[in-house]
Amino acid sequence: MRTTINDIRKKKSAAEKFVMLTAYDYSTARLVDESGVPLILVGDSLGMVVLGYESTIPVTIEEMLHHTKAVVRGTKNSLVVGDLPFMTYQISTAEAMRNAARFMQEGGAHAVKLEGGEVVAETVRRIVDCGIPVMGHIGLTPQSIHQLGGHKVQGKDKAAAERLLNDARALEQAGAFAVVLELVPSQLSKLITQKVSIPTIGIGAGPDCDGQVQVISDLLGLFSDFVPRHAKQYVKLSDNIRSAIGEYITEVTAGKFPGSQHSSNMDEEILADLT
Ligand code: KIV
Repeated sequence: MRTTINDIRKKKSAAEKFVMLTAYDYSTARLVDESGVPLILVGDSLGMVVLGYESTIPVTIEEMLHHTKAVVRGTKNSLVVGDLPFMTYQISTAEAMRNAARFMQEGGAHAVKLEGGEVVAETVRRIVDCGIPVMGHIGLTPQSIHQLGGHKVQGKDKAAAERLLNDARALEQAGAFAVVLELVPSQLSKLITQKVSIPTIGIGAGPDCDGQVQVISDLLGLFSDFVPRHAKQYVKLSDNIRSAIGEYITEVTAGKFPGSQHSSNMDEEILADLT
């Protein structure tokens, strides 16, 4: 049975910690889904870890939809959240609603995520009113990286902390079913988690959020251009991949691969007839 937003809400009431993981393609989504991850985020982090951009800013809605469709095809149980990319929800509420609808209709997503707090609350409300579940995202919001002046922890002084608390409350009031807290001091995440009724999902936000999210390429040690402090590499697959490719090169150049088990034969008589 596919996870619903009510299942995610219930996890908070039951004080049951949960995870969300990103995925960007069919095969990975299958593995994540089969591993029992309730929430998969098709994050615009794919701009860096899949498409090789420097930030999430160049990511287009067409690129997001392409990957969202592949991820959805790989899942049976996980709830798939599609990330609305830069400037697809800020220009007008109508545009935001149209783009959120594209994620549901064309992408097959089950919810959308967008960045911002009070400033996007009305947009969130309108999207939710149309029947589209929305996940918020506050703290370090990577689409505003140039405005924020880099990957810095957010909410460290009183005014900034109050703003974040108000942002979380505004998203809760607007009907968001959960909110991502990115690069927020642990104590502030704990406070926000206590003050809002919706689940908080942390990344670089300490242990007291209701859930945690990681970028799968970080968790699997696949992406080394930039490894954030908050990322934990549970395995270093890049080493395994390099060594497998090296072995392949060695075997091919030594004439060891392909062997008979990887090759097929044809009728010798037919072969003899060929000139
Ligand atoms: O795009 C993404 O992967 C994200 C997560 C870091 C929350 O927004």
